[in-house]
Amino acid sequence: MSELQPNKTILRLELPTDPRWVNIAEKNIEEILVDHAYCEQKAATSAISLIVKYPDKTKLVDELTDLVAEEWSHFERVLEQLKKRGYGLGRNRPDEYVVQLSKHIRKGDKRERQLMDHLLVNALIEARSCERFKLLWKNIQDEELQKFYYELMVSEAGHYVSFVKLAKEYMPFDVVDARFKELLQIESEIIRNLEPRPDRMH
Ligand SMILES: [Fe+2]
Ligand SMILES: [Fe+2]
Repeated sequence: MSELQPNKTILRLELPTDPRWVNIAEKNIEEILVDHAYCEQKAATSAISLIVKYPDKTKLVDELTDLVAEEWSHFERVLEQLKKRGYGLGRNRPDEYVVQLSKHIRKGDKRERQLMDHLLVNALIEARSCERFKLLWKNIQDEELQKFYYELMVSEAGHYVSFVKLAKEYMPFDVVDARFKELLQIESEIIRNLEPRPDRMH
């Protein structure tokens, strides 16, 4: 297997995940898989909302239609991993990380600016998920889950790139870069202030 390893240069995240997280995650794999399943559902739902809100943006509609299909296939795959281990889907829980990050999507009448913020917030969620999947791939003992998280890490890295590219499709490069730098700072502050939890992917 040729290894693609997204690193800081690609993902640009300012703050690495607390290394304690992967140990507590592995001990709580049922909780982590349930939370992960809902992360995939939320990723699909968020992309569907963007398609519905911006039907006039043909490139966005095309790319996000493919992305929704991929996120939903991820959901199915997580569900399969849960079933294999004798677990059910469990209940959805609030994703404090996503809630806090989404507060930085600026509202108002500037439609393109709101779209850019939304796409960049989604890019950051993909980047952080990708970083967490990499930790799981590298550190988890279960060989099947290692392979599973490696494959998902590669897929989410692709989604991260797609969201940033789409933002640059609809807003000038320098505007997108400046806003992305601000959001990277905001994201690292959110991560710094969130305790690593045994039942959350973020
Ligand atoms: Fe996914
Ligand atoms: Fe994704």
